[in-house]
Amino acid sequence: MGTVGKVYAVILAGGSGTRMHSAMPKQFLHLGGMPIFIHSVKTLLAQERVCQLWIGSNGDWLELAKEQVAEFCGDDARIHLCEGGADREGTLLNTLSAICQNNTIEDDDIVLIHDAVRPFATQRIIRDVIHEMQFCDVCNTVIPVNDTIVQSADGQVISGMPRRSELFAGQSPQGFRIHALLNAFENLDAETRKQLTETTMVCYKSGMPIHIVRGEFFNFKITTPYDLEVASHILDFVEEQKRSD
Ligand code: CTP
Repeated sequence: MGTVGKVYAVILAGGSGTRMHSAMPKQFLHLGGMPIFIHSVKTLLAQERVCQLWIGSNGDWLELAKEQVAEFCGDDARIHLCEGGADREGTLLNTLSAICQNNTIEDDDIVLIHDAVRPFATQRIIRDVIHEMQFCDVCNTVIPVNDTIVQSADGQVISGMPRRSELFAGQSPQGFRIHALLNAFENLDAETRKQLTETTMVCYKSGMPIHIVRGEFFNFKITTPYDLEVASHILDFVEEQKRSD
């Protein structure tokens, strides 16, 4: 540890967006005149340390993704596309495998993984993740939770009330040393693999320390029509924040 080599970026755009109830997956819907995932692509590409950016897209929508990239990003040679997988981790593994097939990966090379549908990440967050990766193999972006979180095993009665000051909500981008992440996936048994809801869980289950950096409340994941409506209303506010980043 101590150095950060090449910085690769992955945009996870292989989801189906069932909770959005739209005709096409939500990452292709427009927000402020651009498809949602293009906001994410442009934000990652604005970080000059990113040497390549890989977009993992659902096979049925790969052609549309290519067309939209060509229309909104021109011919930036850093952008590559490949097929996604059955779940978020499947898409990640497909893109990582494409990165490894096309490059020689060194131990200090890292990947920044970002949800296509989180269009409001800032350069400050990306810089913080890259900086923190000097000191760890894995880094997550998180925000403190404002509400008291309660736990209920049966959905009817509260079974736990964790201390709020120790709770954070995970966002992206997330940073990983590529070799360390692939090792963590290899050591995972099939049962645990099925239970994953989050990539950093792979590393947590392998006992790797996971560092955290501060995200932003507005760096939320667009999941429902309500989120898209909110996103359209805060677009100008976030663009202003990004300019002073
Ligand atoms: N994702 C992916 N490949 C999958 C599933 C999800 O790349 N097979 C990506 C999504 O495109 C999104 C991120 O992971 O950028 C978070 O996904 P999420 O919104 O939770 O899931 P979706 O499948 O997109 O939506 P839903 O759960 O409503 O169907």
